[in-house]
Amino acid sequence: MKKPIRAAIAGVHGHVPDYILTNAELEKIVDTTDEWITTRTGIQERRILKGDDQGSSVMGIKAVKGLLEKTDTDPQDIDLIICATITPDVLTPATGNIIAHAVGATHAFSYDLQAACSGFLYAMITGAQFIETGKYRKVVVVGVDKMSSIVDYTDRKTCILFGDGAGAILLAPNESDSGIMDSILRSDGAGEEHLHQKAGGSRRPPSHATIDAKEHYLYQNGQAVFKVAVLKMAEVVKEIMQRNCLSSDDIAFIVPHQANKRILTVVAQRAGVAMNKVMVNIDKLGNTTAATIPLCLWQYEAQLKPGDRLIFTTFGSGFTWGSAYVVWGP
Ligand code: UT7
Repeated sequence: MKKPIRAAIAGVHGHVPDYILTNAELEKIVDTTDEWITTRTGIQERRILKGDDQGSSVMGIKAVKGLLEKTDTDPQDIDLIICATITPDVLTPATGNIIAHAVGATHAFSYDLQAACSGFLYAMITGAQFIETGKYRKVVVVGVDKMSSIVDYTDRKTCILFGDGAGAILLAPNESDSGIMDSILRSDGAGEEHLHQKAGGSRRPPSHATIDAKEHYLYQNGQAVFKVAVLKMAEVVKEIMQRNCLSSDDIAFIVPHQANKRILTVVAQRAGVAMNKVMVNIDKLGNTTAATIPLCLWQYEAQLKPGDRLIFTTFGSGFTWGSAYVVWGP
């Protein structure tokens, strides 16, 4: 009997801007210390996209172009580009459309998907469904955010957390035993009160009043989000391991969304996985929202072997969260 078509990760690439925003520089901007930031979050520095008229697509285009070159993929063979972002260049057209045009993916359709820090995971699972139908063969999923465009650099509670970046994967059909094996995706709109942007959309369109009230910046009740993030990420990691009969010894890496190093430590403990098997890039990149997971894969690529079992997990605004079980390799 013919095996069902499974989507596999056929390549990964990333891009981060050159400018490094260090904790020392933040000490000069807000009332904070390198010691507080490092011990409470694990972040030492983050990358910032500088310059006029530079949107998320600038980073997304570099990540996708690099991915196509690296995987020797003709842009015209791409069927679909899904761009996960909460910081699109503009509200319309989609940043995915802008990226597709710039990389020459003229036969692809493209769109944006918004699920904040879970955006890449949601987009990867959505892209996998297109492959599994058998109708689409090459799907690019790009997670990109220019968080510096929605961060208030007078608010020490949030400005120390975020950075800019982009990461992209190529999904392709695979009939072997690797690829995206299973996933759990969840959301709960009750989380809005703890993590949101008050204005800029249809409820409160931009006006002088919304700008004066700083309502276009990200608001976060850190402690409330922290507690639910730890609980939910650990819950879905354990659930996906159990239903796929995986013990901690079977796992090569947990690939978690990078919001706080302390969250990663607790999730790893609860999954019974040692910290040396947890991908971490928050120290050098901060929280890059939709880009954290593909940027982790890009950074750890050389350490991955075909057959390695990976557990992805995310938590973010919405609330949105989830996990995926992925077997690395062609
Ligand atoms: O990616 C989307 C999902 N997001 C998350 O998962 C983020 C989850 N939350 C967190 O990572 C943490 O809650 C934060 C890193 C945001 C904050 O850490 P915390 O340990 O929860 O700090 P806190 O908000 O409870 O604040 C503790 C104290 C407060 O002072 P008082 O009221 O006790 O005097 C804050 O004002 O730390 C103060 N504080 C700071 N001090 C120095 C807050 N930010 C800073 C700062 N520098 N940057």
